[in-house]
Amino acid sequence: LNVTKFQNEPNTDFSRKKYRDDIKQALKDVEELFGQDYPLNIDGKAQDGRAHIVSRCPFDKELKLGAVAAASPEQAEQAIAACLRASTQWKKVPVDHRAEYLDLIAAEMRSRRFELIAWMVYETGKPWVEADAEVSEAIDFCRYYALAMRDLDAELRCDYPSEENALFYRPRGVAVVISPWNFPLAILTGMVTAALVTGNTVVMKPAEESSIIAFKLMEIARDAGLPTGVLNYLPGIGEEIGPTLVGSPDVDIIAFTGSREVGLEINRQAANPESQQNGVKKVIAEMGGKNAIIIDDDADLDDAVHGVVSSTFGFAGQKCSACSRVIVLKNVYDTFLERLTGAIESLKVGPATDPGADFGPVISQEAYDRIQDFIEIGHEECAAIVNVDLSEELPNGYFIGPHLFEVQEEHSRILDAEIFGPVLAIQKAKDLDQALQIANESDYALTGGIYSRSPKNLERARNEFLVGNLYLNRGITGAIVQRHPFGGFRMSGIGTKAGGPDYLQQFMLPISVTENT
Ligand code: NAD
Ligand code: ALA
Repeated sequence: LNVTKFQNEPNTDFSRKKYRDDIKQALKDVEELFGQDYPLNIDGKAQDGRAHIVSRCPFDKELKLGAVAAASPEQAEQAIAACLRASTQWKKVPVDHRAEYLDLIAAEMRSRRFELIAWMVYETGKPWVEADAEVSEAIDFCRYYALAMRDLDAELRCDYPSEENALFYRPRGVAVVISPWNFPLAILTGMVTAALVTGNTVVMKPAEESSIIAFKLMEIARDAGLPTGVLNYLPGIGEEIGPTLVGSPDVDIIAFTGSREVGLEINRQAANPESQQNGVKKVIAEMGGKNAIIIDDDADLDDAVHGVVSSTFGFAGQKCSACSRVIVLKNVYDTFLERLTGAIESLKVGPATDPGADFGPVISQEAYDRIQDFIEIGHEECAAIVNVDLSEELPNGYFIGPHLFEVQEEHSRILDAEIFGPVLAIQKAKDLDQALQIANESDYALTGGIYSRSPKNLERARNEFLVGNLYLNRGITGAIVQRHPFGGFRMSGIGTKAGGPDYLQQFMLPISVTENT
């Protein structure tokens, strides 16, 4: 199998001065590019939009990074038409050739690594080290899917006397990729390259907040020589162009990653029998999480504190995989709470350009206001253990300090919703039965974890903790391509696993041919 050759891309070793200097230089170089315009790209041609989205820096509200064209519904139709035209040829391109484009995209990302990191730092407020890991993940998606597709390019034979049988895959046709801002490069690259290598043409609709990074991916794909019209760059407002993209009878598959609310709406619209479509659209929807870590009474508490803090506050809690609930067995509750409180209070918050900061700002004013509303609910319904207000210390960006709320009554609303910010709820459980019951009391089922020294309890978690990605004695974020195929179920997703062995099949139609011999 080709995938046996796959190796994960290494991250940069920032303990070496040379690389720290490289990133500082890249940050300066990118500053020189602030203020440019970023047009749509439909059928290989640059187009202005019906309006502009001003891309801003979350740690410096006044800083305008650039003006990105916002597509109109008519331009969305044009992009779909370009995909349809390009599809006839692209379907016929041999698999190995399609996979080579992904290898070229990966190589180009490797050589533009620091520039890509710098854009993520400025456009999403992601700290260097995490942006660096994201470039590695994007490269991994390209290389893993290129190898995996080469393996799928073979007929599965099952011959009988007087009957020859073959099973093989065909592209679906036109794919719409709709992505979130929090993994602006990796998730977008993963969905786009999966759709391309399986022979689909693509309309790429990035999140409003991270459309410049998506423009960089478009540039890279163009430089890799991808034929005209095969990939189209269509930034815009989701509510404005989404219905056209999702409802079009010419679209065969929608690959979406984002919130539960939007994912469910897309699923509903895609199934609308009133549109003129000639088949049932395939929807891949990866959505939110409300993830828990259980601390058993024999856990290594040093490890557990570190794992909970990094899983909760990494990138200010803005990961679908982030921990937002910690459930602690009563015998270790007081000790764990004391140590956790100390660790959280020592976190440093600052701009993503500051390598000393543990985490940076949240993405936007809207996110800031929404998270503050949850903090208010936390104050009303729970005991605030850590409550850091940064509004005076860091007024220029959307900074929210770390928060820890102790849930003392049966329930609080902060246990239900995905807050997507630096807010953690802690709960006490009388035993593992109750801890598992509380952990599973969620609409979501994305990630989860347990710290325990008991093999029996770890085994129970394997069997009873209902999440798509379960982590034993480690943090619950940072899934790595191939090693940790990623995705959840319930309201977290439809059950697909990005970076795993079954992902590409979703983008194709399995065909069985039988010949009577
Ligand atoms: P979002 O749902 O607000 O937006 C995601 C994308 O959908 C954007 O491109 C947006 O423009 C588009 N969109 C909005 N309305 C639309 C509509 N009516 N029709 C079509 N498209 C529309 O999510 P976000 O704020 O960008 O990202 C954060 C969310 O993503 C969180 O809920 C997080 O948990 C989730 N997420 C999930 C995963 C996963 O793998 N499960 C990974 C990353 C993020
Ligand atoms: N794949 C990302 C993680 O595991 C979301 O953190």
